Amino acid sequence: MIRPIFSTGISVHTLKNVNNSEIVEYVKANNNFNKPKDIYKILSEPIFKNLNSIIEHKINEHYHETYNNKFKAVLLEAWGNSGNDSIITMPHIHTTGFISAVYYPHATEGYLTFLNPMVGLLSKQDINMIDEHSPYTSECFSYPSKTGALIIFNSLLMHFVRCESNNDRVSLAYNATVKELNA
Ligand SMILES: [Fe+2]
Repeated sequence: MIRPIFSTGISVHTLKNVNNSEIVEYVKANNNFNKPKDIYKILSEPIFKNLNSIIEHKINEHYHETYNNKFKAVLLEAWGNSGNDSIITMPHIHTTGFISAVYYPHATEGYLTFLNPMVGLLSKQDINMIDEHSPYTSECFSYPSKTGALIIFNSLLMHFVRCESNNDRVSLAYNATVKELNA
């Protein structure tokens, strides 16, 4: 029997009671489409206070499934994205974070697609060898974008968005770092 020896994973949550319409309005009014984003403002804007707190809590739950309680995750950066912004539709990593998250205040279609960082191990793999993909055979993994969904992942896991060109999709991206408690 094969057992996994190296792995990564995402966690997915559905958030309730978030003021999504207010957040969508804010992102659309403040979004620099196809341009660099303000990565700090959302962390201090009052309308994001409740959501930021929930997301930091969920990121900590994710973090502590892997690591001990000597450190905690702290939000470092957050920014909004809309539509098919070129910054999110090309494969990228979040170099300043340890753990990242994406939340959708509004999304009805599209995917967040993650690329397998160990793709070199798939050399010579033939599609005819595979009936159903598993973590051992997948080049990528896609999760559908849905309103209210929160996806948490390792910041250095390469990912990108696939969505229709004309859409009203809005997402928030977060980067968290970790801090030692009692340091
Ligand atoms: Fe991203």
